[in-house]
Amino acid sequence: MLAAMSTAEDCKLMDGREAARRVLAAASDKVRRILAATGAVPSLATVLVGDDPASVTYTRMKHRRCEEVGVRPVLVELPATVGTEEVVRQVERLGADKSVHGILVQHPVPRPIDRRAVFEAIPLAKDVDGVSSAMLGRVILGMPAFIPCTPAGIMRLLQEYRVVLDGAHAVVIGRSPILGRPMASMLINAHATVTLCHSRTRSLPDIVRQADIVIAAAGRPRFVRADWVKPGVVVVDAGYNPGSVGDVDFEAVRERASLITPVPGGVGPMTIAVLIDHTADAAARQLGVALSVSA
Ligand SMILES: NC(=O)c1ccc[n+]([C@@H]2O[C@H](COP(=O)([O-])OP(=O)(O)OC[C@H]3O[C@@H](n4cnc5c(N)ncnc54)[C@H](OP(=O)(O)O)[C@@H]3O)[C@@H](O)[C@H]2O)c1
Repeated sequence: MLAAMSTAEDCKLMDGREAARRVLAAASDKVRRILAATGAVPSLATVLVGDDPASVTYTRMKHRRCEEVGVRPVLVELPATVGTEEVVRQVERLGADKSVHGILVQHPVPRPIDRRAVFEAIPLAKDVDGVSSAMLGRVILGMPAFIPCTPAGIMRLLQEYRVVLDGAHAVVIGRSPILGRPMASMLINAHATVTLCHSRTRSLPDIVRQADIVIAAAGRPRFVRADWVKPGVVVVDAGYNPGSVGDVDFEAVRERASLITPVPGGVGPMTIAVLIDHTADAAARQLGVALSVSA
């Protein structure tokens, strides 16, 4: 429940690793049922352009988790010098491949590539990372969708910890298409009152101080400070900056918060778990397996 007031001792961590284990266990069960019903193994293909060390590490982590739950990872590596047309061609090839059920384009892709053109080439049924404009439209309208994995993971964490969204004031810092925007839409659909902030927002600390729930997604290390938040606030730190540092000044803010996500161990593990769960759901749909009957 959303606490109105809290002291430092009251502050609880939202344990993303533990919640992610539950999501992965459910995904693993879905994979087993799909295999039993069809003989097919759900598969996630990742398109990795260039050799950015962080992207290589994230891709490796995602594929390791895939293997743990029985999802077959497929890696398509392209050099950083590749053009948009070739990346689109590879995505379209994976889109037509019946043995691939989910497609992830690891981002950021190198600058000259038109990432919007690449995202739009992913068929809706395989857009398990929720990056296409059609999927964002579905998210905004509250229609069934593969919601971008980070905001979807954050919503699941908020639900796990029984944070009351109905009527709460949520402040989202960041308006990117994969994080801030879908996050704000989901919160609106859950009946929160949402303020969406960005780099041009004036008096950001004053706005954040009014929040019952803060979602920090600006990509600025230790950006949200203790004197920006009111006592009892629920803080979700989606940031992941070099050195495994979040967007929230964790040690200081936890003194005032009722609930907070750590970095690492908060939003990150949930993002990967949701991606794999989406892949299992996508495979079930494409293979005609009705998971919801026993889910
Ligand atoms: N844990 C995970 O799995 C995961 C997944 C994805 C992303 N992330 C992390 O989440 C963070 C955000 O990612 P992203 O992809 O959404 O980043 P992004 O595309 O760079 O967007 C950052 C957003 O923050 C806003 N912003 C930047 N500086 C600001 C400031 N001083 N005040 C207020 N708003 C500011 C920007 O505003 P403008 O629109 O005005 O430029 C933009 O909307 C990063 O740290 C990233 O590493 C984590």
